[in-house]
Amino acid sequence: MLERTEILIPVGGFLTPTEPVHPLVEGPWQDCLGDLAQGRRVLLVGERRVVDAHDLEVDIILAGGERQKSLEAATQLARDLVVSGIDRNHLLVAIGGGATTDLVGFVASVTLRGIPWLPIPTTTLAMVDASIGGKTAVNLPEGKNLVGSFHQPEGVIVDRRLLTSLPHARRMEGLIELVKTALCHGALGEKVLAAGSVEELEALLFHGAQVKLDLVSRDPLDKGPRQALNLGHTVGHALEALFMPRLSHGEAVAIGLVPVLRMGLGDGAQPWLEALQRVGLPLKPPNEVDRDQLLAFMQRDKKGGKMVVPRPGYSVELWSDAEAILEYIESEAFVDTPPTIA
Ligand code: GLY
Repeated sequence: MLERTEILIPVGGFLTPTEPVHPLVEGPWQDCLGDLAQGRRVLLVGERRVVDAHDLEVDIILAGGERQKSLEAATQLARDLVVSGIDRNHLLVAIGGGATTDLVGFVASVTLRGIPWLPIPTTTLAMVDASIGGKTAVNLPEGKNLVGSFHQPEGVIVDRRLLTSLPHARRMEGLIELVKTALCHGALGEKVLAAGSVEELEALLFHGAQVKLDLVSRDPLDKGPRQALNLGHTVGHALEALFMPRLSHGEAVAIGLVPVLRMGLGDGAQPWLEALQRVGLPLKPPNEVDRDQLLAFMQRDKKGGKMVVPRPGYSVELWSDAEAILEYIESEAFVDTPPTIA
């Protein structure tokens, strides 16, 4: 039996204002960085694709991508920073996608026992989710983000000009995380459901980032309501680990959202499924999913196999029993969209 173990966000959501854990600003990144650096020496670490596409001058270049999120890459970056003479009075700035901001943030949290850092996300996914709220991590062969830390940045700068070089499928990934965040917040939710195109959804990215920051600020260490942001991620992370690099994070989360929407919202899931369909990523898992492997990855997830489930009224609950959840997933058809996974 599925058991509801915890209410993460009550019906109607949170109504009281909260002090943000870090600033979140939108604008030309060079101007914003000048304000936030407050005269400190900046050390800029950039992802190769972004450095090339926007002709940036940086101190250190990283390969980018999920494969670089390893302890080996973290060691190399820490060594490069120490050789470059970094100290705790510097501001370490990461410019790139979520894999780059996760890695640089992790290295900033442990090098010299902690260096101030600041991410400038260059993907929709990092803008609305990965770079907000101080979670940093690298992967292990056993799963994603299994070694990491909480290290709040000095701020996050959103500059949508940096999205122009992003391939279409990657640009769509962040819109999935936007839909996920909107499930926790009525005002954003209504705008997301009313958005009829990907352009209208993309215009809501900064609002999505603000909602995430608000949620994180209530629970910086992920012990309560922040866990609502793991909607779709129990199945999503497991699929991503099983099919890396064939399935991207956004694709895996899109697929993972389908069963929890149906479990938690019943008929009320339909407008949300339509919002996911508008983004256009596949919503069915690859045919050859191995049940036992999927279950093993789901149980290894940091929530111990518990599943975050959206409920009516923009509330969110944590339900237990991964086996029962998997049976539910198997018994339910996933949404039928063209199988675009190669
Ligand atoms: N990506 C979910 C969180 O930051 O809590």
